[in-house]
Amino acid sequence: MCGIVAGRTVRPVGTYLVEALGRLEYRGYDSAGIATVDDAEQLLTIKTVDRVDDLGRQVALEPRLWRATHGIGHTRWATHGAVSVRNAHPHTDCHGRIAIVHNGVVANADALRAELVAGGHLLTSDVDSEVIAHLVETHLARHDLHTSVELTVNRLEGSWAIVVLDVRTGGLVAAAHQSPLVMARSSHGDFVASDISAIADWVDEFRVLEDGDVVQVSPVARWRRRGVPVLASELRPCTVQPGDLSLGRYPDFMSKEIDEQPAVAERVLDAWATGASGPDLWRSLALPPFRRVAVLGCGTSLNAGRAIAGILGRVGNVPHQEIIASEASDAVLEPGTLLIALSQSGETADVLRGLDALEPAGASVLAITNNEHSALGRRADAVMACHAGTEVGVAASKTFTAQLLTGACVAVSALVAHGRLDPFDAQRLTSDLKRVPELLSQALAASRRSVPPLVDGMTEARGFVFLGRGAATVFADEGALKLKELTYRWAESYPAGELKHGPLALVEEGTPVIVVGDQDDRLAASIAEVRARGGLVTQIGGPAADIPALGHSTDPYAVAGLPWCGPLESVVALQTLARELAVALGRDVDKPRNLAKSVTVE
Ligand code: F6R
Repeated sequence: MCGIVAGRTVRPVGTYLVEALGRLEYRGYDSAGIATVDDAEQLLTIKTVDRVDDLGRQVALEPRLWRATHGIGHTRWATHGAVSVRNAHPHTDCHGRIAIVHNGVVANADALRAELVAGGHLLTSDVDSEVIAHLVETHLARHDLHTSVELTVNRLEGSWAIVVLDVRTGGLVAAAHQSPLVMARSSHGDFVASDISAIADWVDEFRVLEDGDVVQVSPVARWRRRGVPVLASELRPCTVQPGDLSLGRYPDFMSKEIDEQPAVAERVLDAWATGASGPDLWRSLALPPFRRVAVLGCGTSLNAGRAIAGILGRVGNVPHQEIIASEASDAVLEPGTLLIALSQSGETADVLRGLDALEPAGASVLAITNNEHSALGRRADAVMACHAGTEVGVAASKTFTAQLLTGACVAVSALVAHGRLDPFDAQRLTSDLKRVPELLSQALAASRRSVPPLVDGMTEARGFVFLGRGAATVFADEGALKLKELTYRWAESYPAGELKHGPLALVEEGTPVIVVGDQDDRLAASIAEVRARGGLVTQIGGPAADIPALGHSTDPYAVAGLPWCGPLESVVALQTLARELAVALGRDVDKPRNLAKSVTVE
């Protein structure tokens, strides 16, 4: 939610800011803007409610920017205030001395705004963040920038990642609390960004700001935490792969990331499968034994967690519960619960606040995330990286598969360690997992062939129904979520048996009904009920299905699919269906409307 960047660079900063904002656009794309200091030491801001590309064109045409070497930038996902240039960041104080960018929510903005207005400040936007610029202004009369920012954040409630630019001195100060921020320096200069991928081309190492940090961005960074000088946080290597951020031969990141899944699966299995066939992987995490499991997450990550919980239940009889992170305050954890928190970004506010709510229960926390250095990674008792590589498309695809396989590996190992699974059976399950890359490749090939012609008959449909049974249900749910996000069409997902208890009323002549799986006899009855009402059934299953994506194998002795994992390869068919339909409808598949990746507000 909102991406921020700042730089003090050896070459003109404008191009750095624009390039970084382009890579942060997945965090929000309602508006974008930058602020720098021109030759006459005056504040210069450029803002647009178009995309970062437009900002880049304006920056290239602004000669006053050609020599500016320090500045801040922002790409917005609107929370407070409409999408307008007036509400676009950076925001400034009354006299144009201070410019700020902010990611997060200032919960007490109304009270601060009233106080500032009463004190004679002129606030010009509807945005909560603007109060930050004016608070810094009030303190600058008596303090340096670093102290002024500290005094300012002491007044804030809520969450923030902030960078403040002082036009008069060229000073830059960053602060973080419950919103991500990294800092790095290299021969290109000093940088601050919401996400390392934004600046990965220019730096090899970075530091993560902890909650309460206020840091001066300068060659000798002054680092303070809640008012106390501290050593700079540990240096971490930047592991972003260069290819992750470029489209290559693909028309969009969604298609690239769907296609990458067999390779991602190989990578996950290389990392985790060896220790999975015995207790080693589980033991390496040094977590206490558990009797039950709860999975915590949102959206696609929650679906991956539900699939993992299903494996623990089916294979090891482990009682399990799923917790929607934003509802965690109502959840009750039994003693002996292992809490598996899933988040590709590791920065999702609902997940972090969910952990806060569940903390008193004392459960040990295993994080499965694509960002080990994230707030979730730092907070959990043990972390497993899901090795998906950077996911740029706002809708999750390869991270789902990576999380599920990471969870499947640890589930098998944990069940052996707890005496719930025979090591011989664990060997067999681990060999099964090694077939997943091939199953995904075959599913991809089948989906590429069979989905586009089916989509032609779906473009006029107002709503969709997704059905599955048992282990397939969670994949049907994931398919419906993807379709909603990418196409902006309604999609309902149900266990097929529930159809007759209500959702069947939605089915009329031509209603597309997507059925995941063909191994359960009872599905036939649900399909017949749909067809009797004129519904248009598309079945994802084995060789005879409309989308024959399940259970292909070049190994004649292998049992089709991995029943204990559910039809996991169906996910590529479901993702392909959502993407193809979205493209046919002219949607922006990488940046669906109203959404952002990395949802750092509750
Ligand atoms: C769906 C999607 C979202 C995320 C959810 C959680 O395609 O991308 O539903 O899965 O916002 O995000 P993370 O995994 O970053 O916690």
